[in-house]
Amino acid sequence: MTEHTQALRGRIAAELLAARDRTTLLTTAVDDADLVRQHSPLMSPLVWDLAHVANQEELWLLREVGGRTPMHPEIDPLYNAFEHPRAERPTLPLLPPHEARGYGHEVRGRVLDLLDRVRFGSARDGNGERLLADGFAFGMIAQHEVQHDETMLATHQLRIGPPVLSAPAPGPAPADAAALPAEVFVPGGPFTMGTSAEPWALDNERPAHVVDVPGFYLDTTPVTNAAYAQFIADGGYDDPRLWTAGGWAHRQRAGLAAPLFWRWEGEWVRVSFGVPAPIIPNEPVLHVCWYEADAYARWAGRRLPAEAEWEKAARYDPVTGRSRRYPWGDDDPTPSLANLGQRHLRPAPAGSYPAGAAPCGARQLIGDVWEWTSSDFLPYPGFTAWPYKEYSQVFFGPEYKVLRGGAFGVSPVACRGTFRNWDYPIRRQIFAGFRTARPAPEAAR
Ligand code: AVJ
Ligand code: FE
Repeated sequence: MTEHTQALRGRIAAELLAARDRTTLLTTAVDDADLVRQHSPLMSPLVWDLAHVANQEELWLLREVGGRTPMHPEIDPLYNAFEHPRAERPTLPLLPPHEARGYGHEVRGRVLDLLDRVRFGSARDGNGERLLADGFAFGMIAQHEVQHDETMLATHQLRIGPPVLSAPAPGPAPADAAALPAEVFVPGGPFTMGTSAEPWALDNERPAHVVDVPGFYLDTTPVTNAAYAQFIADGGYDDPRLWTAGGWAHRQRAGLAAPLFWRWEGEWVRVSFGVPAPIIPNEPVLHVCWYEADAYARWAGRRLPAEAEWEKAARYDPVTGRSRRYPWGDDDPTPSLANLGQRHLRPAPAGSYPAGAAPCGARQLIGDVWEWTSSDFLPYPGFTAWPYKEYSQVFFGPEYKVLRGGAFGVSPVACRGTFRNWDYPIRRQIFAGFRTARPAPEAAR
């Protein structure tokens, strides 16, 4: 066995273990009654996520890669996200908590046995071979579990009751936002968007392709609570000229007046995982929908960045002309580069993580808050759905907007400069904020 194979096995085992540690924490922080309860019609009961994660792991690793027969075929439909929308999941005959845990434990034991014996290879021909190239199927399953860890964190944020989560680590060193320029320039010209080289990139990030992006200016940091409160105080929610037609209709119907989880008590108070506290002025704003982000940008005389603009700001290195894996370079994230992995349970103040800055000077493109872009979720030229047809392909189209960069709730394994997230423009329970942009004057493009 080669050293490379051993290292890959070790990396996979570590990623699977880290994901499971987080899943376990999120599902043992509450009692069993809480696990089976639906905290919001937008979310599944936590016990559904628990068994769904195990079921996907069984489907892809034990059955697809390992060729095993189904362990409990009768439960497959319960945990198929397309057969049952979230709202109806609490009415299903779901595995009770101890059985869901037992199922996950059993699947994982067999997966670790499989991992010990499997040959990765790197042939790009048959589907089976390709699934194993660079350990892709294992990487996909680690990413799937941590994505559900973020979803479960959103369920925790919606949960009513005494707080049960606390941040495992103190926040980063104080930020120097006052000393930073408000915006940075991203030079015009072609750059490589997406990837064909990143081994665990999911289908929607592929293939690499060249996009010509004219020069533009981008906010150095995400929009802060203080700036957003000014938009509110200035009547931003009451001026239809700032909203798209669809946005205004939604604002009226839903009675939007401030970010989700904000309430006015003579000052703005935000409830974070059950703990109310005055908003922190220099923290990136969180829990706004695309329509709110878009209206704010118009109020500021700016616009949301297009997805290609966001990625160019995050990856383009003007010295080499290459696109990096991350804003700071090609190395994986560390705690001093970005706020990821549910370490702090809140975004860090704007201007934090100077070591994680992009070549253009923008900060916090990775981590802290997901950033809404102006773009619809569409396939890149040359896209092919693989291997999990329902992962991206069924969502492409104008009804979803793209979010980039990842939030504090995202694990590093599911976060990179090419990673694409998407949601409806009305959604606010996700850990989403935004930054704004403006085109450069003609002469500077
Ligand atoms: C990429 C976050 C939109 O949660 O719907 C989890 C990820 N896909 N299981 C979602 C996903 C299948 C997906 N998002
Ligand atoms: Fe899933």
